[in-house]
Amino acid sequence: MKTYRIAVIAGDGIGPDVLAEGIKILETVARMDGTFSFEFTHFPWGCEYYLKEGRMMPEDGMDILKQFDAIYLGAVGFPGVPDHISLRELLLVIRKGFDEYVNVRPVKLLKGAPCPLANVKREDIDMVVIRENSEGEYSGEGEWLNKGTPEEVVHQTGVFTRKGCERIMRYAFDLARKEGKSVTSVSKANALNYSMVFWDQIFHEISKEYPEVETHEYLVDAAACHFVRDPGRFQVVVTSNLFGDILTDLGAAIAGGMGLAAGANLNPERKYPSMFEPIHGSAPDIAGTGAANPMASIWSASQMLDFFGYENYGKLVIDAIEDVLVEKKHLSPELGGNAKTNEVGDAVQEKVAARMQHR
Ligand code: NAD
Ligand code: IPM
Ligand code: MN
Repeated sequence: MKTYRIAVIAGDGIGPDVLAEGIKILETVARMDGTFSFEFTHFPWGCEYYLKEGRMMPEDGMDILKQFDAIYLGAVGFPGVPDHISLRELLLVIRKGFDEYVNVRPVKLLKGAPCPLANVKREDIDMVVIRENSEGEYSGEGEWLNKGTPEEVVHQTGVFTRKGCERIMRYAFDLARKEGKSVTSVSKANALNYSMVFWDQIFHEISKEYPEVETHEYLVDAAACHFVRDPGRFQVVVTSNLFGDILTDLGAAIAGGMGLAAGANLNPERKYPSMFEPIHGSAPDIAGTGAANPMASIWSASQMLDFFGYENYGKLVIDAIEDVLVEKKHLSPELGGNAKTNEVGDAVQEKVAARMQHR
């Protein structure tokens, strides 16, 4: 029997609660299929670990993670540890260190999910944001000069490489070609006269390799407006690290909320493990209350199933989430219900089991 070894970093705040539900779903799918299984290894890394050990993960953390088929992450970051430490020393280290340069973030309004937009049809919110995930504005490079003086100045350097731009754009175009969709590039060349002029130039070059794929281009501010006014114009969206970060929280807002927004950090070459995580954070404002919606982490688990080649099960899990949304009996407070995190997970698990039985 094939066994997939998964490193679990539940992390902080609501991370452990939502991840437990995703694990439940993966275990149910594997058990009922019967030809493969998951072996989960839990790592207690995150802010609590930091407060005890002075680091977010052990020194050989990346060597440990490298042994796994995938990483399943909840969320990191909590008051008490500065965000630039908690995120830079764990999440961003993994994304960059394992060359997970593709961040796949679906923005799809599922049946039964609430949408705050008036005059928008459900089918119009159905896109995927392909976010560059290894460089750009997140390069981490920069300098802090003349600290504490009136001449203090900081430089935060965006690093855009030809290789980095080309590979993320090719990923987006390949996906669009496979699915018969358009590609929209989101940039900001009117203000960012190096990085985004370069981005646009490479987009034009790569688009010539895919003459059959329709393309669109927007400045990021205008794109934000269209996300709200007319999301139907987007299908595959390719954008930089920071713009993708911001646009996908906006995407979450139009597609039901943070508890419904999933993401996959992929190393498409499969040289290193890929990482699956909800796009939301540790939500300190609701941590410990049981109010977190686990659907985003369950959706990320479905992306993991896709990645391992079980696309039929990936889809089955999304269908099961939709069943629960449509039924409206087990919804978390974010969606207007009063179900606890584990009750939502149980409800999805029940629907998954029913669908597995009738498959
Ligand atoms: P957040 O995503 O944690 O929360 C934003 C809002 O969305 C909050 O009101 C929260 O209650 C709500 N929310 C988030 N997830 C939810 C869910 N599953 N169900 C219901 N409501 C949900 O963003 P923030 O408050 O800006 O960040 C909190 C911490 O998380 C910070 O330390 C931040 O750096 C970190 N963070 C980590 C990740 C990650 O690990 N991938 C992602 C984003 C933010
Ligand atoms: C996300 C998060 C991270 C990001 C933060 C926590 C560094 O907001 O995954 O969307 O900006 O990528
Ligand atoms: Mn984000």
